[in-house]
Formats: sequence, C-alpha cells, structure tokens
Amino acid sequence: MKSKKKRLARAVGLVSVIGASLAANGVMADAIERAVDYRQGVMNVFGWNMKAMGDMMKGKVAFDQEAFANHANDLAAAARLNLMPGFPEDSESDESDALPEIWMEFDDFEGKYRDLRMRSKALSGVAESGDKAKLGEALDKTGKACKACHKKFKN
Ligand code: HEC
Repeated sequence: MKSKKKRLARAVGLVSVIGASLAANGVMADAIERAVDYRQGVMNVFGWNMKAMGDMMKGKVAFDQEAFANHANDLAAAARLNLMPGFPEDSESDESDALPEIWMEFDDFEGKYRDLRMRSKALSGVAESGDKAKLGEALDKTGKACKACHKKFKN
C-alpha cells in the first residue's frame, strides 16, 4: 500500500509540472503576442505610406513631389527590415490575421516579401524624377506586391 506521504508527493509533483507548463505556455503566448505586435506595426508603416502616396495619385490630396518621394523612401526603408523574425513558426493568435499557409509555404511567403522590397526600391528610385506617369506605374506594382501576399497569406 502506498503511503499517504508518497501520494501527496506525487500529487504535488504533478501540480508543479502542470504549473511549469502553464508558465511555459504563458511565456510562449507572450512571445507570440510581441511578434504579432511587431509585424502589424511594420505593416502599419507600410499602410501609412502607401495611403499617403495613393491619395496623392488619386488627387484626394494635392500632389507634392517632395512629400511623395519621402513616403516612397520611408516605405522602401521599412521594406528593408528583416520582417521574418516577426513571423515565428505557428504564431497564430486571435489578434492576428496571419494564415497558417505562411508556415506551410514559408519560401513563397519570403519570396513575396522580397518582391515588395524590390518594388518599393524601384518606386523610391523613380520618385526622385517626379514623372507622374512613371510614379503611378511603380506605385501600382508596389500595391500589387502587397495584395499578392495578402491574398494568399492574410485573412
Ligand atoms: C510577405 C507578405 C506580405 C506583404 C508583401 C505585405 N503584407 Fe501586409 N500583412 C501580411 C500579413 C500576414 C498580415 C497579417 C499580420 C497579422 O495580423 O499578424 C498583414 C497585415 C497588414 C495590415 C494590417 C495590420 C494590422 O494592424 O492588423 C496592413 C495595414 C498591411 N498588412 C499593409 C500592407 C501594405 C500596404 C503592404 C505593401 C506595401 C503590405 N502589407 C505587404 C503580409 C504581407
């Protein structure tokens, strides 16, 4: 017959194992939350600059070449960030619109990010010229790079 003491010790042991794994889950959840905040923050930097340029091209806001070039440069600079650490494996959460496909097809996901980097760099290159037709075209291609990724990888 097992002693009460032994059973108690086992029970206490079990509780502390559960406690440790709950704490580990807490740490994981916290790391995921921070990654989600980081990537959404960068996405909001993208969105801010794209909207400002789009509004100018659509005539919602008066076209200002210098302001346009600044937005194009900031977008290209943001797209230079190494964003992939913001997408750690399986970092899905209620706060996030990231789809599980990201981690099933990570190479494609990364490739789509590289496309954006390339397009935004080209956009900032033509932004200096102030040629509106060229700007419109480069902005359009950049917007398509955003959409190509969202369509497949974002809710
Ligand atoms: C490589 C893929 C990829 C590219 C390229 C990309 N996005 Fe995203 N974007 C995502 C994913 C995935 C999410 C969802 C992130 C989340 O909620 O965890 C997202 C979310 C967003 C959000 C919502 C952020 C929030 O606060 O919830 C905005 C705004 C956004 N993207 C704008 C853009 C713009 C503008 C561009 C292009 C200049 C762009 N994105 C390019 C993948 C991408």
